[in-house]
Amino acid sequence: MSSDLASKLREGTKHSHAIAENTAFMKCFLKGIVEKEPFRKLTANLYFVYRALEAELQRYCSHPVVGLIYFPELNRQGNLEKDLAFYYNEDWRNQIVALEAGKAYVARIHELANTEPTLLIAHAYVRYMGDLSGGQSLKKIVRSAMNLPPDQGTGFYEFENIPNIEAIRAFKAKYRHALNSLPVDDILAEKIVDEANYTFELNCHVFHELETDVKAAIGDYVFDLLTRQDKSGNTSSELVAAD
Ligand code: HEM
Repeated sequence: MSSDLASKLREGTKHSHAIAENTAFMKCFLKGIVEKEPFRKLTANLYFVYRALEAELQRYCSHPVVGLIYFPELNRQGNLEKDLAFYYNEDWRNQIVALEAGKAYVARIHELANTEPTLLIAHAYVRYMGDLSGGQSLKKIVRSAMNLPPDQGTGFYEFENIPNIEAIRAFKAKYRHALNSLPVDDILAEKIVDEANYTFELNCHVFHELETDVKAAIGDYVFDLLTRQDKSGNTSSELVAAD
């Protein structure tokens, strides 16, 4: 049974993707403005999100639908822990705090897990496909913006079992194939796309909450200059085969 869920998700979230790319936080990021304080707070909030998501996906790893999209090689929690030890210190667990937007995001993951676990597919798709796509360019930006020592600070963007561009391309094709093979009818597919759009929103709320720190670091004037213009989104063009 092919639900064509992969194309439905890509097409159905294009607009949300463009909005996420055009958040002030991401615009600054793409222009090489990666300040330590907002970046480590983002890392901390991603840690809370992935910890919740991965625990719930693990809980449903034998579920007839959710289990088919569970790929432990994608798990980010361990690498986020290493990054946090780098950006804070060994005592990072006592220092990190969830933003309001981070708490809402985590709460949504647990709520779905307890009520409609198939919608967790949307959450996995938005984060992991994003990490395997634009996330790879963001890694280069982070490394050069903060002039990081080799092998430190960007574990989040590194997949030990998916180590290079060819492997990433092949994995994304496998993931899309898995999405398409899910036993999902049109109504459920639509709900998953809606939840994916909501997941983009939850991510944007985290970015917005971090803007205050970016402004504090670079000043209102530069912030306004950098964030003035919008661009069309990276997923707005046709899908290149197996990209
Ligand atoms: C400035 C930030 C971003 C850039 C430059 C960017 C760039 C890209 C690029 C180049 C692709 C690949 C498109 C393709 O396969 O043809 C992509 C895909 C994707 N991105 Fe982003 N992205 C950004 C932010 C985000 C954010 C914040 C999220 C979610 C939180 C996200 C989620 C996704 C997803 C889910 C896909 C897969 C689309 C699909 O093929 O189904 N991206 N992104």
